[in-house]
Amino acid sequence: MNRKSTLLACLAVCAALICASESAAQSTAAPHLEKHGSATQLIVDGKPFLILGGEVHNSSSSSVEYMKPVWPRLAAMHLNTVLLPIAWETIEPSEGQFDFSNVDGLLEGARANNLKIIVLWFGAWKNTFSSYAPAWVKSNLDRFPRVQLADGRGTERLSPFSTNVRDDDARAFAKLMAHLRDADRDQHTVLMVQVENEVGVIPESRDHSAVAEAAFKSQVPPSLIKYLQAQRATLEPELRTAWESASAKTSGSWQEVFGSAPLTDDFFMAWQYATYIERVAAAGKSEYALPMYANAALIRPNYEPGQYNSGGPLPHSLDIWRAAAPSLDFFSPDIYFNEFAYWAGRYARPGNPLFVPEAQGGAAGAANALYSFGRLAAIGFSPFGIDDRDNAPLDLVGITNAAELPNNDAIRAAYTVLSELAPLILEKQASGGITAALLEGEAQRAARVQLGDYNITLARIGAASTSDNTASKRVAAIFIQTAPNEFLVAGAGEAQITFSTDKPGLPIVGIESIDEEFYVNGEWVPRRRLNGDENSQGQALKLLATDLAQGRIYRVRLYRYR
Ligand code: DGJ
Repeated sequence: MNRKSTLLACLAVCAALICASESAAQSTAAPHLEKHGSATQLIVDGKPFLILGGEVHNSSSSSVEYMKPVWPRLAAMHLNTVLLPIAWETIEPSEGQFDFSNVDGLLEGARANNLKIIVLWFGAWKNTFSSYAPAWVKSNLDRFPRVQLADGRGTERLSPFSTNVRDDDARAFAKLMAHLRDADRDQHTVLMVQVENEVGVIPESRDHSAVAEAAFKSQVPPSLIKYLQAQRATLEPELRTAWESASAKTSGSWQEVFGSAPLTDDFFMAWQYATYIERVAAAGKSEYALPMYANAALIRPNYEPGQYNSGGPLPHSLDIWRAAAPSLDFFSPDIYFNEFAYWAGRYARPGNPLFVPEAQGGAAGAANALYSFGRLAAIGFSPFGIDDRDNAPLDLVGITNAAELPNNDAIRAAYTVLSELAPLILEKQASGGITAALLEGEAQRAARVQLGDYNITLARIGAASTSDNTASKRVAAIFIQTAPNEFLVAGAGEAQITFSTDKPGLPIVGIESIDEEFYVNGEWVPRRRLNGDENSQGQALKLLATDLAQGRIYRVRLYRYR
């Protein structure tokens, strides 16, 4: 070998080593978020990951034993991720004495079933209350003060104004994150962490303890004013209106800056919860920097602050949360209401990827999952109470008869198809070429979306029923463009799909062919060609209510004519 070829050989070896070490570094990096095109994606072991999740009931993960038969059931439903609480009282039952045996048992259970975990830190708050704080915290009112009502009575809510509560919560959370780093640094079983759960105050719109009253009368923190000024053009409308209606002041008390309406109390509490949670999240991230988020309980129509969780990361307060809690990567809605598209849309914003940690399951959940991934580039979706449908929160899903409980067979079916489509969905979320349509209730007859050169209309079949407007009447379809004139379509519910175009040239869209396809050994295999009665002699694609359960997707090819 002459000197030149020796040099070239050395360079090739060096390049190979650099590539190998780069890809090793990528796959050993902790789960994190990355922007790909217009989507923000969760990266796990060097690759984008679509969270097909489910959240277990609040107390399930307090017992490793209880979870043993649950894990394989969830894996069989094609979940890839389980959202589960880890409580402050479980890991720090006595002050300063940490016990991670529950955490280790949960990691083991998940790994044995090839599942990932999202940890829900039930620290100082769970649904505004403090039921998961350790007994040594609960019972010491002097050291750990509570939120107070206007008449001076206490509530069982730790005060977000207390530095004692905050610092001990943050210390325990940091210990948990340090433990996860040590126990999980190679396996990446834990993907993300939710910090606290559905915070806020009820039944009044703000804390009336002496310290809270004093803060309410003090100046709005200059850092928040600075944020408002810098982000004025893109502030959420409710916040911008409140600020501008009070003359967009650059200093003053909360009521001077935002007006003396109940919403101002909500903004004030949002700042307080967010600054507190920032300290907790930052302490955790300094040990192990997994993506972290906070979740919100949403608002029923016409409810005022205090009737709902005042101070939570609700759409109208997202700017306040962003300004106060930069260690949180995003904010998430718990969507049990039937207006899924509205609520999900308010969280799928630039700088805030959509992740739905709690949602209705059953047929409604299946449709909402297709919509979230296809239309809103969601990083994940997760029906609540996935381990036991018999405990579903009936009142929240508008059901009074237990026989009508959501049946999670629909989630199993949706996740089976979504797990097959996941690589394509992730690719198209980043590069474009994906959308979805959703019909919410009988009254909504049709929805039109646009993809490539085509308008796609999803429409109900048959006449409107006046009586039935329930979530189970929800229909959705996801559309993935595989070539300029070719789409993969998967649907939840019964509907028909037609295609048209506004593009100049050939104005009429014809269906060249529709093939039903099934995923077999990692490939989409065509079976019947459906060009006759099944699809109105080629005039529309008909979705059947059984499509997801049967694992059927459609490959549609279009052409144009005059
Ligand atoms: C919302 C909470 O975040 C969950 O922990 C659980 O309590 C559900 N509500 C029950 O409906």
